[in-house]
Amino acid sequence: MERKVVIFDHPLIQHKLSILRNIETSTKDFRELVNEIAMLMTYEATRDLPMEEIDVKTPCGVASCNHIAGRKLAFVPILRAGLGMVDGCLKLVPAARVGHIGLYRDEETLMPVEYYCKLPKDIEERDVFVVDPMLATGGSAIDAIRQIKLRKPRSIKFMCLIAAPEGLDALKKAHPDVDIFCAGMDEKLNENGYIVPGLGDAGDRIFGTK
Ligand code: PRP
Ligand code: URA
Repeated sequence: MERKVVIFDHPLIQHKLSILRNIETSTKDFRELVNEIAMLMTYEATRDLPMEEIDVKTPCGVASCNHIAGRKLAFVPILRAGLGMVDGCLKLVPAARVGHIGLYRDEETLMPVEYYCKLPKDIEERDVFVVDPMLATGGSAIDAIRQIKLRKPRSIKFMCLIAAPEGLDALKKAHPDVDIFCAGMDEKLNENGYIVPGLGDAGDRIFGTK
């Protein structure tokens, strides 16, 4: 099956993203919006989960229904900012497991620096959704996915709120088997590796650290 790259054009997602980008948006609203957009993206990113037919007894008869065929999922946020998306994802898939990968971008080299990795023990049986609001140079996502692949999950998808073309190209090239979902696609990176126009530093805006 061909790999998917989905850039969302749904009005609800685009509307929420426009508020998220605004420099005047408060930390509280920013945090809520990140989760709301993550929830809407999860709806689409889980579209191809396999189904099975089951019979359900209703008060008036038996309905032949579709039911998700026992797939096990895991969400893996890239710390810190990815944490901001997890509650939204879990709203739609409450039984999913959550792993964590700690990476930060060195401000000088822009290269990812790893500091933590804890994944579900049975990850080999799980479809994994790696989540991070920003795909800038792509270094963090590429490295996180590389680490997760060492543990052999069934599949990996990547979800971000805003991507730069540079990061999207790099991720597509590094991991041609990973489906990518972005709420918005921006113009470029600036000289400091920030997405333009973007939304600023996602982690600082979610946690109110600047
Ligand atoms: C941000 C963001 C991504 C990364 C994207 O995290 O959440 O993980 O930068 O940049 P890249 O595509 O160029 O790697 P940051 O390093 O600022 O850490 P934080 O989440 O702890 O704030
Ligand atoms: N990380 C962020 O939080 N924002 C950017 O624009 C780029 C990397």
